[in-house]
Amino acid sequence: MGIVVRAETERDAVAVQLVNQAAFGGDQEVRLIRRLRDTDSVAPGLSLVAEENGRVVGHLVLSKARLEREGGETLEILALGPMSVVPSHSHRGIGSRLVRAAIEEARRQGYPAIVVTGYPDYYRRFGFEPAAGRGLSCNLDAPESAVLVLELREGVLAGGGRIVYPSPYEEVF
Ligand SMILES: CC(C)(COP(=O)(O)OP(=O)(O)OC[C@H]1O[C@@H](n2cnc3c(N)ncnc32)[C@H](O)[C@@H]1OP(=O)(O)O)[C@@H](O)C(=O)NCCC(=O)NCCS
Repeated sequence: MGIVVRAETERDAVAVQLVNQAAFGGDQEVRLIRRLRDTDSVAPGLSLVAEENGRVVGHLVLSKARLEREGGETLEILALGPMSVVPSHSHRGIGSRLVRAAIEEARRQGYPAIVVTGYPDYYRRFGFEPAAGRGLSCNLDAPESAVLVLELREGVLAGGGRIVYPSPYEEVF
């Protein structure tokens, strides 16, 4: 049977925790995800799991972030991650399936843009581009080159601004 990507349900909670612990080798991301849930920061329908033969082997969550545009307008955008695939199943395209499904659902829900902080070469293949190149800064303490954005509504990133991640990111990292 192939890989199925679907929205996470309550019954996946333990499996999702185990997948994150296995992929990251620690509890930091599990704590972050818990805080995102506690603060109602997870975007509805955008905590996704990848399942193979009834077993959850991958997870990706998107949370609600802000884009403060030059000029004062604030838009609700999405922050992609953490993403995890159990080591035994990595390099088989499962992470890519999760990212593509998330982008599709974000677009369907009408979100204007997605930000991700991660490996630039990995996310570029999905259309993400450096935030700095768009005149966008970010409140996370991350290397500038690791912050990437994907525009879902044309022109929304024009003019630059500041990206603000949901508060659990600053608490946990
Ligand atoms: C990153 C991760 C989610 C990718 O999942 P995956 O199912 O293996 O992804 P895909 O099969 O779609 O793509 C694999 C590609 O990811 C890229 N990649 C994976 N880990 C990478 C890393 N540490 N640095 C740079 N690129 C990486 C490589 O280009 C790789 O290509 P390859 O298979 O030809 O080597 C998975 O490896 C993982 O859980 N890693 C540990 C947790 C983590 O770092 N998460 C991301 C940060 S939130």
